[in-house]
Amino acid sequence: MKRVFIGFLGVVAVIFIGFFVIAWRPSIAPAPLPAANSFSPVLVAKGAVLAGAGYCAVCHTASGGQPYAGGYALATPFGVIYSLNITPDPQTGIGNWSEAAFARAMHAGVARDGSYLFPAFPYDHFTKINDDDIQALYAYLMTLPPVNAPAKADTLPFPFNIRYLQAGWQLLFFHGGRYQPDTTKSAAWNRGAYLAESLSHCGGCHTPRNAFGAEEAGHEYAGALIDGWYAPPLTAANPAPVPWTRAELFTYLRTGASDVHGTAAGSMSPVVHTGLAKLPDADIQAIATYFSDIDGAATRAVNTGTALANAITASAQSGQPGADPDAHLYENACASCHYNSATPPPAVRPDLALNTALWLPDPTNFIRVVLNGISLQDGMQGVMMPGFANSMSDDQIARLAAYLRRTRTNLTPWPDLQAKVAAIRAQGPEASQ
Ligand code: HEC
Ligand code: HEC
Ligand code: HEC
Repeated sequence: MKRVFIGFLGVVAVIFIGFFVIAWRPSIAPAPLPAANSFSPVLVAKGAVLAGAGYCAVCHTASGGQPYAGGYALATPFGVIYSLNITPDPQTGIGNWSEAAFARAMHAGVARDGSYLFPAFPYDHFTKINDDDIQALYAYLMTLPPVNAPAKADTLPFPFNIRYLQAGWQLLFFHGGRYQPDTTKSAAWNRGAYLAESLSHCGGCHTPRNAFGAEEAGHEYAGALIDGWYAPPLTAANPAPVPWTRAELFTYLRTGASDVHGTAAGSMSPVVHTGLAKLPDADIQAIATYFSDIDGAATRAVNTGTALANAITASAQSGQPGADPDAHLYENACASCHYNSATPPPAVRPDLALNTALWLPDPTNFIRVVLNGISLQDGMQGVMMPGFANSMSDDQIARLAAYLRRTRTNLTPWPDLQAKVAAIRAQGPEASQ
């Protein structure tokens, strides 16, 4: 008995040691900060555009803080993780990181000192970035002004705070490796796929995650609730009545709004306005080419005429007296801006019958927009929608949502609307950023 037990302990010890041996990553020696003029200005400029497309500044800048100095709080289901300082400050930033150390962090999620990084840093996508782009990003970051900003302490409870355990997460969910082109597709499609899957990590929000916070394999771009917003499906399951064609996707991703869909609010706003903004039109076209293929727009676009006609009919009906008791609410609060009598509706008057928000399984986006409005900077720039948090009760907003859902779509009613409005109101406008 005793011998069996000791044998068993031995096996456990071997597995345990084996895990540590396999999971152990060496530290990469500190390197002196390269002189700014050792990088060509062309490379640095390229890196700036790529850093935009990877939203590095969005996640690495605390509100009111210095750009790229970290300290931005990412609320995860496990606790708050703060981004780190990626300015070239040798003490508190990445000033003593060689390009090899930087490449390893981006491609494999391991910091210079050999410790594992949490996947709140989207290295599961950045692993696909090619070496030339890594070099440009490194050149850009190393020529930023250094900022002394020590890391903030995460609030992850034990055992989630043990970085070593991330090796287990990687074993289960991480597939490292550069983007592999699909030779059956066009060059534009592959360029779009490369940007979407690597740097711009569209799946980071649009793909649902499992209980371990990893994107679900096989459900790419299937739609997900994230950061208090619902990122709609980007596949053929996208419920908008007018399919997202290449042209519509291009206009939306370039300007923040599309006539026959709506506007990029919530967490999609910085994607468009600070993320993709510096990419040339050809790259935005490429992303549009990729997603219009994924969502099968070519075969679905035949129904566009009917969808537009239905929207105009619904818009006209809500104005008729006695049509519906709740129509009154809509007439008073919304119709002055959201009315349409002819196709195509102009983007500055989004037609709600065509807006994805009403067609999603979850009313979160609709409720958030009505409560908090859309600022001049978000959605279409220079255009705003007022918030109704102070002028409408939970009950009124719930009735309005139910009314629009039943008159503008043919879908089942949203359940528990009033409780949902109350919960989103309690989160306040901050949760929508
Ligand atoms: C979705 C938010 C997010 C985005 C976008 C993002 N990062 Fe990060 N990044 C983080 C977080 C959070 C950490 C810290 C992870 C940890 O503590 O393990 C981090 C860590 C890092 C680190 C490791 C720093 C260190 O000291 O260990 C590097 C390097 C880095 N990011 C570079 C980048 C670059 C370059 C980009 C843009 C291409 C980028 N990040 C975009 C959230 C983000
Ligand atoms: C930080 C999270 C986030 C990232 C990253 C992100 N999205 Fe979004 N996206 C959203 C949210 C939230 C919405 C809903 C916005 C709204 O309703 O105003 C959205 C909406 C959209 C829509 C409109 C869908 C519809 O039916 O209304 C498209 C198209 C889109 N995103 C494409 C992309 C592409 C392409 C990328 C990558 C280049 C991307 N998104 C990256 C969060 C994100
Ligand atoms: C003063 C004009 C105005 C009023 C009143 C108004 N809206 Fe809007 N609404 C807009 C504009 C403009 C946009 C697009 C804003 C942008 O892109 O910056 C918009 C956008 C929207 C969107 C689309 C959000 C998205 O992410 O695509 C919804 C949903 C919406 N409004 C619902 C409502 C409802 C419901 C009411 C009534 C309670 C209402 N609006 C009242 C002007 C208005």
